[in-house]
Amino acid sequence: MPKVFIGYFYAVSSSLSFDQLKVELELLETEAKEEIASVIDQDSLEKLRVSLLGKKGRLSSVLGTMGKLPAADRPLVGQCANVIKTQLQESLAERLKFLKTKALNELIKTETIDVTSPPVGTPLGKRHPLIKTTEEIVDLFCGLGYVIAEGPEVEEDHYNFTALNIPENHPARDMQDTFYLGDNLLLRTHTSPVQIRYLEEHAPPVRIVAPGRVYRRDSVDSTHSPVFHQVEVLAIDEGLDFSHLRGTILAFLKAFFGDLPVRFRASYFPFTEPSAEVDVQWRGRWLEVMGCGMVDPAVLEGLGLDPDRWGGFAAGLGVERFCMVRHEIDDIRRLYTSDLRFLEQF
Ligand code: DAH
Repeated sequence: MPKVFIGYFYAVSSSLSFDQLKVELELLETEAKEEIASVIDQDSLEKLRVSLLGKKGRLSSVLGTMGKLPAADRPLVGQCANVIKTQLQESLAERLKFLKTKALNELIKTETIDVTSPPVGTPLGKRHPLIKTTEEIVDLFCGLGYVIAEGPEVEEDHYNFTALNIPENHPARDMQDTFYLGDNLLLRTHTSPVQIRYLEEHAPPVRIVAPGRVYRRDSVDSTHSPVFHQVEVLAIDEGLDFSHLRGTILAFLKAFFGDLPVRFRASYFPFTEPSAEVDVQWRGRWLEVMGCGMVDPAVLEGLGLDPDRWGGFAAGLGVERFCMVRHEIDDIRRLYTSDLRFLEQF
């Protein structure tokens, strides 16, 4: 069908009949339908809609010539134009639907999803600074040939006290305020009971490093928490003396803290003799970071070990302190409040 814009011809001619205009409208309809059917994308379809049905579109310009009709014919042309308009709108809507479905199908065909790619923008968790510090301490001892040992947090009085040479009514029981769970059960106040449990199961020589959580009836302040973490160290062998203890601790502290000044200070623990506390110099002051000593022969005898043959050293340290000194943390509570602004720094 040739595209003839008959409207222009009529617009310049002086008069018009209803039949002529009707033919022109029908021609417009036929042409428009063909064009709609051949459009292949949504943008072009929208342009076509505007050029057909818009204010300055082809339908309007044909209707613009209605003034040249006899007055009686005008309503008939109006009706006819409305029918055509509705039909064209339907064709356009149908074509739009078709083009949308086609576009979607093409997208589904070409789009691939890589299910193995990592999610974008999902925050990753990190290990807690206390865990990292514990691991670092444990790793250093593992590097010296120590193996990891563990014991229960709900402990028997026997392991937490008696077997460590702290008999009932011994004043040393007051050194640590204990959470009792019954006559005989308690939350362990230190990791030292792991020494006893391990030696019950393993004949010397032994070298163990035992990390874990411990509990004391302390009120919370900037340096105290009723739950905290310790690492216990124990070496039992033939021929160990204080120089081995000192050499091991110094090597460990140097590896962990670098060149902070260190001093050993005589102290007392029921399960070691002699005993010492170790201080490091931090912010211009001596700060106690661990207890240690040569395992008391009474502890070894209680385990059925001959103290003339076997001996060794033990040490216990507080992980929180190591973590706080290392990272310049001023308040222990920061380690327990789960504030992401703090934790994200590690
Ligand atoms: N268990 C002691 C405490 O919690 C620390 C300690 C001191 C552990 C001396 C030891 C040691 O193994 O030899 O205060």
